[in-house]
Amino acid sequence: MAPVQTPDRTTPDDGLEFTPEVEAATKEIRARLEGTIAEVEWAVHAPYIARIQELKKERNAVILAHNYQTPEIFHGVADIVGDSLGLAQEAVTAEADVIVLCGVHFMAETAKILNPEKMVLIPDLRAGCSLAESITGEDVRKLKERYPGVPVVTYVNTSADVKAESDICCTSSNAVQVVESLGVDRVIFLPDEYLAKWVATQTDVEIIRWDGTCEVHERFTAEEIRQYRRGYPDVVVLAHPECPPDVLDEADYVGSTAGMMGYVRDRQPERVVMITECSMSDNLAAENPNVDFVRPCNLCPHMKRITLPRILRALENLEYEVEVDPEMAERAKNAVERMLAVGRGSGG
Ligand code: 13P
Ligand code: SF4
Repeated sequence: MAPVQTPDRTTPDDGLEFTPEVEAATKEIRARLEGTIAEVEWAVHAPYIARIQELKKERNAVILAHNYQTPEIFHGVADIVGDSLGLAQEAVTAEADVIVLCGVHFMAETAKILNPEKMVLIPDLRAGCSLAESITGEDVRKLKERYPGVPVVTYVNTSADVKAESDICCTSSNAVQVVESLGVDRVIFLPDEYLAKWVATQTDVEIIRWDGTCEVHERFTAEEIRQYRRGYPDVVVLAHPECPPDVLDEADYVGSTAGMMGYVRDRQPERVVMITECSMSDNLAAENPNVDFVRPCNLCPHMKRITLPRILRALENLEYEVEVDPEMAERAKNAVERMLAVGRGSGG
């Protein structure tokens, strides 16, 4: 990833004002976010939301946002929201000339791999991922030498270089189905150690692991979950499979971010705790007023690089364009397309 200086512009220094016109243009979004965003914050966000909506039309752009984006992005400016699989699926059918990916770099790269002819922008190039950082293409080549003939299943939370060395990709929503789709006894599963361990509990296929972890999910502990249960005996615990195994053992449901959201929307539990990134509860609370959210807060610092001022600048200046070497992209695309053919699985 190219090192760049991304100036912090999280204050309203863009000459945008909360005028009556802005208030009228953002009225419906405001109503949805009434209990989630305070009045004083809204006066800062609304002018950005109104201007971003205009710029999207001018640029023929679409905004794809991951479920971990903050409510003013998720509910305010995104055209399509979803988990990693959903964003990859939507990137294939996006009709716009420009895709702005509000998420982390590997998600933007995946969109570019699937749409080489389109302009894909990420509002802040520093939006990385500890899992993607944990492994290189060279590491995968060495593993393939060590385990000749064993297929490589790679979590999408990886660079294009790593995907290009892989047989097939997966996400947390379809990891088990992808592994089983290969019809083999043994796979190399990269790079998330905990996701690999979770998949191993769901299949008879032998899983050879790497030791990458998500810096957000690895911080949750089983004792923390037991404390929530002691404090709220009726609480339903939903956890992301990037959490350590003893945390997942304590959960009522394990699934991707979309799987967890689907659980809340469909089953409307009285009280829930989502063992994942903080913004998930905020985004869901805005649309599920009857559900009480217990809110542990582990922020993903990479996802939080994306802000309304940076999205505005991305659309104004068409920055930062994500490029993938065409030969590498072609090989990575095979692995991503094989995953898309498997579709959504039991994890959401
Ligand atoms: P999902 O595919 O479940 O959205 O997960 C992406 C991610 O980065 C989780 O940490
Ligand atoms: Fe990566 Fe974890 Fe952040 Fe997801 S939450 S983008 S896996 S660091």
